[in-house]
Amino acid sequence: MAWSPESWRSKPILQLPTYPDTEALAAVENRLRTHPPLVFAGEARNLMSNLAQVSEGKAFLLQGGDCAESFAEFHADNIRDTLRVLLQMAVVLTFGGAVPVVKVGRIAGQFAKPRSDDFETRGDVSLPSYRGDNINGIEFTPEARIPDPARLMEGYGQSAATLNLLRAFTSGGYADLHNVNRWMLGFIDKSPAGEQFRGLAQRVSEALDFMRACGITPESVPQLRATDFYTSHEALFLGYEQALTRVDSTSGDWYDTSAHMVWIGDRTRQLDGAHVEFCRGIKNPLGFKCGPSITNDGLARLCETLNPDNLPGRITLICRFGADKVEETLPRLIRVIKREGFKVVWSCDPMHGNTVKSGTGYKTRPFDRILAETRAFFDVHRAEGTHAGGVHFEMTGQNVTECLGGAQEISEEDLEKRYHTHCDPRLNASQSIELAFLLAESIRAERMKDAGFSV
Ligand code: PEP
Ligand code: CO
Repeated sequence: MAWSPESWRSKPILQLPTYPDTEALAAVENRLRTHPPLVFAGEARNLMSNLAQVSEGKAFLLQGGDCAESFAEFHADNIRDTLRVLLQMAVVLTFGGAVPVVKVGRIAGQFAKPRSDDFETRGDVSLPSYRGDNINGIEFTPEARIPDPARLMEGYGQSAATLNLLRAFTSGGYADLHNVNRWMLGFIDKSPAGEQFRGLAQRVSEALDFMRACGITPESVPQLRATDFYTSHEALFLGYEQALTRVDSTSGDWYDTSAHMVWIGDRTRQLDGAHVEFCRGIKNPLGFKCGPSITNDGLARLCETLNPDNLPGRITLICRFGADKVEETLPRLIRVIKREGFKVVWSCDPMHGNTVKSGTGYKTRPFDRILAETRAFFDVHRAEGTHAGGVHFEMTGQNVTECLGGAQEISEEDLEKRYHTHCDPRLNASQSIELAFLLAESIRAERMKDAGFSV
């Protein structure tokens, strides 16, 4: 079947907001079509070749950021802090796990949210659910919940400004490994994870001193000074994605220039649905979420449809089962992929299957269950002889209290103190770094096994 950037429009679609004024929506989409691309096709191709390395077990994928970015939290400090924690995590994984890390943010475009219910009820009032800041407002009023196309322009503007700052930070020297000692956040500095990070930063600095003495400096090896950082979000609101889909003049191929990588959510991965139709035609690296409901056949058909040429790095399977379902679900999926010979990146999202309601009424995630799912993911891959290729986290650089536990021992009573998320609960900076240290151990164990040591 012929594909075009708008062929998704004739397919069944889920999670589509109802706009009262469809002409106003079309006018905004037309305006976006004339706006500059946010990323370039060549960058998306670089990410794809980095992910190909991950699929072959030669690198590790670290993907993370907000569940939902918001207009209210748009601030240079927040962008810097999220990037800083991702860089810290990447150093921990690179140094502790001895593996190159591919860094991908859930940032600069992560604005549209799928919802389990179309309506939210409080007391005896029911209103349309909040669907992300580029669709409607989070305030529980009838006016805020009406989808407003002008929000798409604001989302585009915020994405462009965020990406601009990220590019400045990552190429302008901030990400220079020689700054590793300076990446300490105020509160992180005093936390147990901060203590551990300081020790590692010291060792990295010593290694850099040694390298300098050997003549390896940022001037001779620019990789020490700058880093590749990529953006990603869920390709959910397809009108926006279509408007930013352009032909690459070098290859003649279509790329969605709203982000380097996009993924399909667990609720919208129907084989004959609009989201799969849209994504199959763009050449960006793609992810799709694999929840417990995915069937063996469904998985195989999705891989075939989205990656008919079986290109490595094209598909990342973002597994989100829940800590107690990994062992019953993951082995059967791994066997399908092995049997069919599909080249994929296996990534673990230990967030979305482990959401619980606290006694105090907050949507939260226990650190222990996040860790348990990640460990089970590594264990199953080790048993099956496949590569646990990456992780996908919802996290922030802020000192929020949204997920329970960790070395800071965030309790149910603490949740109300700094619960700021617009959607799902995120790991705070300290919890994220703690998790990175624990992950580095698992990666190292995997590499030791590959090298023939018993672990
Ligand atoms: C998400 O990543 O925020 C999300 C909604 O995930 P999923 O599609 O896996 O539920
Ligand atoms: Co989420």
